[in-house]
Amino acid sequence: MHIGKPPDIPSSEITPQSAYRQFMNRRRFLRNALATGAVALAADRVAQVIEPGRVALAGTKLQTVYSPLTTTGEQLTSYEDITHYNNFYEFGVEKDDPAKNAGALPTRPWTVKVEGKVAKPLAFSIDDLLKLRPLEDRVYRMRCVEAWSMVIPWVGYSFSELVKQCNPLPSAKYVQFLSYYDRHVEKWSDESTIYWPYSEGLRMDEAMNPLTLLTFGLYGETLPNQDGAPVRIVVPWKYGFKSAKSIVTIRFVEKQPPTTWNDMAPNEYGFYSNVNPNVDHPRWSQKRERRVGLPFYEQWRATLMFNGYGDQVASMYQGMNLHRYY
Ligand code: MTE
Repeated sequence: MHIGKPPDIPSSEITPQSAYRQFMNRRRFLRNALATGAVALAADRVAQVIEPGRVALAGTKLQTVYSPLTTTGEQLTSYEDITHYNNFYEFGVEKDDPAKNAGALPTRPWTVKVEGKVAKPLAFSIDDLLKLRPLEDRVYRMRCVEAWSMVIPWVGYSFSELVKQCNPLPSAKYVQFLSYYDRHVEKWSDESTIYWPYSEGLRMDEAMNPLTLLTFGLYGETLPNQDGAPVRIVVPWKYGFKSAKSIVTIRFVEKQPPTTWNDMAPNEYGFYSNVNPNVDHPRWSQKRERRVGLPFYEQWRATLMFNGYGDQVASMYQGMNLHRYY
């Protein structure tokens, strides 16, 4: 197994805890102040902090700790945009469909199976996973292959912490993630020609990189269904489609696993899909991106190599031809 270089985040990238907390509290205050009656009701429901053993519903406040791996000093994308501008094709093809339809996803009880090249197959309930490690606030830049981007305050812990509990065999070279799929629940899935269930994968060193986040929440609360409740993966240096939502199976495998978009259109979506402004999508440039939610004159910006996470991840791709392994 090839473990990537440990993170080396420049101190200028690290937001001091007090400033971050202040920022988050102010944003939460503003959000609440602007809330409609319905949202205020929801906030009431979510006022409790989860204690070990408690069931966590979408929108429940999570107990979190500061993360040294939090990044960027950029303005956070609003909760409204993060939860109403989504790609979750099981729930429809328009950006606002998941917010309307993903309520149908049954997020409790929820089990994540671990199988394949492991000492012994395992199953974790969502509450086991929530208790496994302290949950961290981690702000990441997210870049979609469609050339829009957001800055999202996720909540989770490094996926490597779970891998350590799974005892993968030395023959495990890749990890595959499979999303929940039930066509009776996700009846909108027929709108696209995707092969279900949604499948994504990482090379083992990518999966073990501390930035790869097993994600349970955003803005300090459990994930709304449309963002992949109750647990998803987030890989901030890759295009957004690598970050599979609502995961039910984690499979350790010997060979590069089949992945949804690579299977559908291999010339457009590679297995690696690292954010790379120098390798265009065959139908559009990847040099620039539109930051969702900003006034139009501030929206467009240059896309950064590895989405700005090169210091932490570039070493994993040393010697690889990134035009070939896009
Ligand atoms: N996971 C599943 N199961 N189904 C999906 O359609 N869409 C992907 C990814 N994960 C998708 C998924 C794409 S294309 C993107 S850009 C991100 O989720 C979007 O995550 P967000 O809606 O939370 O921003």
